Amino acid sequence: MNRHLLSAADLSVEDALRVLDTAEEMSRVADAPVRKLPTLRGRTVVNLFFEDSTRTRISFEAAAKRLSADVINFSAKGSSVSKGESLKDTALTLEAMGADAVVIRHSASGAPHRLAHAGWLHGSVINAGDGTHEHPTQALLDSFTMRRHLRNGKGDLAGVRVAIVGDVLHSRVARSNVLLLATLGASVTLVAPPTLLPVGVEKWPCSISYDLDSVITKVDVVMALRVQLERMSDAFFPSAREYSRRFGLDTVRLARLPDGAIVMHPGPMNRGLEISAEAADGLRSVIVEQVANGVSVRMAVLYLLLAGAPLTDIDYKTLGPS
Ligand code: NCD
Repeated sequence: MNRHLLSAADLSVEDALRVLDTAEEMSRVADAPVRKLPTLRGRTVVNLFFEDSTRTRISFEAAAKRLSADVINFSAKGSSVSKGESLKDTALTLEAMGADAVVIRHSASGAPHRLAHAGWLHGSVINAGDGTHEHPTQALLDSFTMRRHLRNGKGDLAGVRVAIVGDVLHSRVARSNVLLLATLGASVTLVAPPTLLPVGVEKWPCSISYDLDSVITKVDVVMALRVQLERMSDAFFPSAREYSRRFGLDTVRLARLPDGAIVMHPGPMNRGLEISAEAADGLRSVIVEQVANGVSVRMAVLYLLLAGAPLTDIDYKTLGPS
């Protein structure tokens, strides 16, 4: 593994499977009587969030704490960033405090890359979402969740068919998922109106469709993306009703999925827009599991980047019987 996790493309198939397998082991901690491993005792993890977040931030915090790291939560609101302090000065402050890992979310695509490569920090940088660019740990938790439901016996996702539906244009989740799923051998179809697809998408390792109804009968996973209204200055579709009619997941549409297919969403959801309440809470939905799995996957990432040692070094006695 590289020292940093900035893009899903940083992960070779071996790296990705190592994270996913390690996350399986980490998930046992969540079920153990004492939900803690001593592995990162004495290490400091900083959560540096310049953009709002619920799931990702809480999940990284829980992951670091379950590995016994010291956690510093830093949000731009209420810090000197709101007084105009630069990313560089913020980084130098974190370095002075001895940060071993910095988990960064930023509205500017490329901010984690700058933090990792400008020479300001010695620790690892983990991208927790940068602009419309990437969100690699979300892709890892999505693949982890798919693997749990759709294992093909080989441990990877070879041959698994995934539809990612909706606002691909603004979605860092979509880009990271396409990259990671291609690495793991899955076949991905992006389904969106042409206005919500980014320039250059034809070069991504996936296929494109504008017609959800023709795709939905042939997939093992359907992942709805949030319509990112806060990043939209123009009208990208005629009306919310029209969008739901063509690209929304509802019970009628989901009834046409093959048996065993699952429904995913990275959250936060616009219920009634890209997904109906019944679809979000229905039997095929694994949306709540995605959130729980996020903690195990982020534990695995922190562990592999910071401890770097083979998994056998985990003190399994602290986990109790499996
Ligand atoms: C996503 C994000 O922030 O990129 N959410 C998440 O991390 N769970 C997706 C979104 O905001 O729509």
